[in-house]
Amino acid sequence: MKKQKTFILWLTGLSGSGKSTIAKLLEKKLHAMGKHTYLLDGDHIRRGLSKDLGFTDADRVENMRRVAEVAKLMIDSGQIVLVSLISPFTAERRMARALVKDGEFFEIFVDTPLHMAEQRDPKGLYRKARQGELKNFTGIDSPYEVPLNPEIHINTLRQTPEQAVETIITYISQVGALDNAPTDYVDS
Ligand code: ADX
Repeated sequence: MKKQKTFILWLTGLSGSGKSTIAKLLEKKLHAMGKHTYLLDGDHIRRGLSKDLGFTDADRVENMRRVAEVAKLMIDSGQIVLVSLISPFTAERRMARALVKDGEFFEIFVDTPLHMAEQRDPKGLYRKARQGELKNFTGIDSPYEVPLNPEIHINTLRQTPEQAVETIITYISQVGALDNAPTDYVDS
């Protein structure tokens, strides 16, 4: 019915790197192209599905597992799924990729240097982490494992969110992900 190919656009990066800003703009652009999408955003997920979880390594692993499984269900239902999650660990990003078929997972590294994210500090969380009020904060006292081989690498110092969206749309359209699905397309 939707005549669209389904896939996951998985945005990973530090808190305050701009993932959600890019994801929201990207979603608008895809809607304008007639694509049906759903955005799984860490900040929202943590108010509902993952509200029992904190920020220890084990809790982050579980958070990523849940989001990856939900994303898989959503692509089964025909959506294009955008994920905006710090997702700091290589192993879990790999796990998310392995849940879906080849070509259905695009890892997008939203690359902002720590000092820039910290300077922006949109939610005041870096300040709290530096003052010791917030434990296990990504980039401060919890690791972020940089993606070594993402499909798309966005450098937010050089690209505006609008340019980042253009880069992403160009990439996914060049690999054919935005083509209409064939009429006999069976997503099994
Ligand atoms: S993840 O590591 O499990 O992928 P997720 O993307 O869901 O993280 O949540 C990150 C959001 O939670 C951040 O944008 C920030 O607003 C908030 N947050 C609260 N505490 C922390 C923390 N200790 N480390 C990182 N983010 C935190």
